[in-house]
Amino acid sequence: MQLRPQICRWHTYTNLDELSRAGAQRILHSAREAIARNGRFSIVLAGGSTPRQVYELMRTGDTDWSRWQVFFGDERCLPVDHPERNSRMAAESWLDHVAIPSALIHPIPAELGPQQAAAAYAKTLASVPEFDLVLLGLGEDGHTASLFPGHAWGAEPDSPPVLAVLDAPKPPPQRVSLSASRLSRAREVMFLVSGAGKRQAVADWQAGKNIPALAITPPGEVDVLLDF
Ligand code: 6PG
Repeated sequence: MQLRPQICRWHTYTNLDELSRAGAQRILHSAREAIARNGRFSIVLAGGSTPRQVYELMRTGDTDWSRWQVFFGDERCLPVDHPERNSRMAAESWLDHVAIPSALIHPIPAELGPQQAAAAYAKTLASVPEFDLVLLGLGEDGHTASLFPGHAWGAEPDSPPVLAVLDAPKPPPQRVSLSASRLSRAREVMFLVSGAGKRQAVADWQAGKNIPALAITPPGEVDVLLDF
């Protein structure tokens, strides 16, 4: 089945500080446009450590937080308050500091275990046909969210929206991830990529090597913010 081609715009910054400032500005711009367009803004947050500085900058964002809806691209199957939870990183760095109604923040219930959490989150996403903005990171092996090389990515259009991941190479092994197909149902996608360790993954990506990041194919362009 021929999938939509991915069209990337590569943006290089001097360091993570500059990348983070640009990332935060892009998020706020996307929110302004979505709220003006249809009165609300749906965003999917990236996990890992790279987005932390962007999230901290978002605390002082000039926006109507009551219009925001927050989802997560993936989550580790750990207790809710575990320090390695993506939801905890986002809360501590950003969401606990702004007035987004808690009912509009949708963490993945990964503490339920991969299969149960994936089924529950698929129901949560059923009411969101298209995200306004999807944020993603990139692993040194080319993974994104919890979609890893050699594993299921759910790239086909009829793939399930949320995948149970049982043997992730990046600990913890049990995770929950939106599928590549579901992550691609977005008006905008922005990758935040920091650290020389990602150079080879980016080179592979730019050479068209079939890595999970390449399977994120929204109708529009994909913006990739790099600090190398
Ligand atoms: C996770 C993330 C994962 C992350 C990349 C990059 O749960 O681990 O979703 O996809 O974005 O591994 O991680 P860093 O930003 O920490 O390099």
